[in-house]
Amino acid sequence: MEFQLNEEQQMIQETIREFAETEIKPGVRERDEKAEFPTEIVKKLGELGFMGMQVPEAYGGSGLDTVSYVIALEEVARVDASTCVIMSVNNSLFTNPILMFGSEELKQKYLPLTASGEKLGAYSLSEPQSGSDAKAMLTTATRDGDYYVLNGTKNWVTNGRSSDFVVVFVKTDKEAGHRGISAFVVEKGLDGFQVGKKEDKLGIRGSDTSELVFEDCRVHKSNLIGEEGIGFKIALATLDAGRIGIAAQAVGIAQGALERAIQYANEREQFGTKIGNFQGVSFKLADMATRVEASRLLTRQAAWMKDAGIPIGAKASMAKMYSSDTAMYVTTEAVQIHGGYGYIREFEVERMMRDAKITQIYEGTNEIQRLVISRHLLNV
Ligand code: CAA
Repeated sequence: MEFQLNEEQQMIQETIREFAETEIKPGVRERDEKAEFPTEIVKKLGELGFMGMQVPEAYGGSGLDTVSYVIALEEVARVDASTCVIMSVNNSLFTNPILMFGSEELKQKYLPLTASGEKLGAYSLSEPQSGSDAKAMLTTATRDGDYYVLNGTKNWVTNGRSSDFVVVFVKTDKEAGHRGISAFVVEKGLDGFQVGKKEDKLGIRGSDTSELVFEDCRVHKSNLIGEEGIGFKIALATLDAGRIGIAAQAVGIAQGALERAIQYANEREQFGTKIGNFQGVSFKLADMATRVEASRLLTRQAAWMKDAGIPIGAKASMAKMYSSDTAMYVTTEAVQIHGGYGYIREFEVERMMRDAKITQIYEGTNEIQRLVISRHLLNV
């Protein structure tokens, strides 16, 4: 077994770490406070090839492997989880449905624009009444000549406001259960397509999460991904890969918080000595570091399996569940080590703890991950 990164992966890690430290980190606190989207940073990430990392070069992407991709996400999340999720949704949730199931026309039309960072993509599955039970969606698309007419409301859409294109899942046949779900690429600016409420969130405040509203929105049939009725399969296959990205995001948040906690333990003095000299603190750090390493290994293994063409469903869920629980644990302990200073904005662990929470929730709550894993174990 080989646990070393290869030369290319090391170079990618160095490049993105440098970019994260110099370009992403400086404004992170302000963007969090103002809930401000990092428009310029996303453009630059695109120029550097980080917005379409796994898109083949033929479609304007970087054509890299999944291990390189999770390394990059981890480095970005280490300083800013908001920028990481914006990047991850465009790289994975938007492009994968098109790459895996889309026509050549859709690939040519949408992948070069989003891989370059010129335009931004989003993914829209959930609705106010259908979250975990995704197939209970109510939004419909009715065929009318060469068009489908969309009606309904979607929510929890990352990049919902800032994106130019959205992969939207809708019912084309209300009677056919999950086999009546279809996926479309829908462009902003179409009549009958409005961005609704922008959510005011606990964490990842630099990313936007919005509602999308469709009222007799006419979408051309060429924007159907694959064929009618395979939308649920597209949604879940996309989430399998997406969950590896959330795992990487969680590892990055945890790594960032661990570094802050170590630094603080080495600086802060109480009772005449550095607080890191107390086992109450040093043992915490040992537990935190061990869980970060275990999460990273699980995440990279899931990424490696994807590259090797091995089914990833259960492993991606394990990586997502374990790493997000680690992120919550490590950030909470990092706040504890900082004492009162951990509870104020000035010290970054406060933001990291808020940012960590969502990794246990989005792209399927950890209860859903347990469902996926246990079904796999029991073969049901
Ligand atoms: N890949 C492809 N197809 C799959 C699949 C997978 N991983 N898992 C199941 N399927 C197929 C099944 O084979 C079945 O098809 P057939 O009947 O043709 O065999 C079909 O899908 C239905 O399967 P189930 O009966 O198992 O479906 P279910 O209703 O029990 O749902 C679930 C399974 C795991 C609970 C799923 O609904 C799920 O993952 N829910 C959570 C949804 C979610 O993660 N939402 C987050 C949205 S993204 C987001 O967070 C916002 C953002 O912008 C970041």
